[in-house]
Amino acid sequence: MNEYSIIVKDLRKKYGDIEALRGVSFTVRKGEIFGLLGPNGAGKTTTIHILTTVIKPTSGYAEVAGYDVVKRPDEVRKRIGVVFQDITLDLNLTVYENLWLHGKIYGIPSNELKRRIEEVLDLIELKDWKNKLVKNLSGGMKRRVEIARALLHRPEVLFLDEPTLGLDPNSRMKIWSYIKMLKKEYNITILLTTHYMEEAEQLCDRIAIIDRGRIVAEGSPEELKSIIGREVIYVKFIGTPPISILKTLEHVRDIKLIDRNRIEITVDNAPRALPEIIEVFYKTGAQIEEVSYKRPTLNDVFVYLTGRELREEESNFNEHLRMIMRRRYLS
Ligand SMILES: Nc1ncnc2c1ncn2[C@@H]1O[C@H](COP(=O)(O)OP(=O)(O)O)[C@@H](O)[C@H]1O
Ligand SMILES: [Mg+2]
Repeated sequence: MNEYSIIVKDLRKKYGDIEALRGVSFTVRKGEIFGLLGPNGAGKTTTIHILTTVIKPTSGYAEVAGYDVVKRPDEVRKRIGVVFQDITLDLNLTVYENLWLHGKIYGIPSNELKRRIEEVLDLIELKDWKNKLVKNLSGGMKRRVEIARALLHRPEVLFLDEPTLGLDPNSRMKIWSYIKMLKKEYNITILLTTHYMEEAEQLCDRIAIIDRGRIVAEGSPEELKSIIGREVIYVKFIGTPPISILKTLEHVRDIKLIDRNRIEITVDNAPRALPEIIEVFYKTGAQIEEVSYKRPTLNDVFVYLTGRELREEESNFNEHLRMIMRRRYLS
């Protein structure tokens, strides 16, 4: 039996002169929640569109639920559920009518469909809303209806393109809990895309970081963070920090005085280094007021790998700065 739900090999997609995908490869195991994390324009939606047979790749190979997406699109479609980036519900129909229509398109017999609609409405806690017009629902509720709809025909693989884009923190957390529940209750494989690092971190077993049409790293959130290999510990003292005594410690890579009584210690393994550091200070009789340590975030990993920030606002700003500097100093 095939251990993978999704296999992607050297996928490329050109839109005219734009190369949206420049050789994307990854695999998703059965039952896994896999995230494509990357900034706007990275190629996430293009990848989802190819995997869900909406568009064809320029070259490369992709297989979903055991079928080639280019050669056997009908077999793929039967086995997947999709929530696209933009809402695709019929706003002028009720929640129930939207679900019914979808079920009928998939040829689910009426009695069975009625049962399944109740089941999915229960799942996403929208039973009381089933006869409301979709246009009267909040953004978060619409998203939940779309997830319910994508589950009606019992897909093996679920695709979610930016499932919480533009939602408020409450709705976002609700959606996260549904996605976690799906993994637990149904044995479904989920591929989601996001540009929110917290979302990838919270939900995904494994993540592929995508940037400008290429996968720049792949692994569990922990594995990705360990790419940086550095963590930072902050120690605040009552009095002057005794910096020099740290220099002999094995895990310490760098020490900086950042305040009159505060130091920043870069280490390669904070959980190991911390006890040693505290002990050394203790022996010298230095009085510690506060200790904290910062784990690298997935954004740090992205910056480390690409030199840019995940969030476009910040990256645009940095890019802008870099351009000004380049003009000023290189011309
Ligand atoms: N239909 C299209 N025609 C031309 N360019 C496109 C089209 N769709 C996407 N692109 C371009 O391809 C790149 C990747 O886009 P997309 O896959 O939507 O990225 P993401 O979903 O990660 O934000 C972007 O540069 C985008 O402008
Ligand atoms: Mg997109």
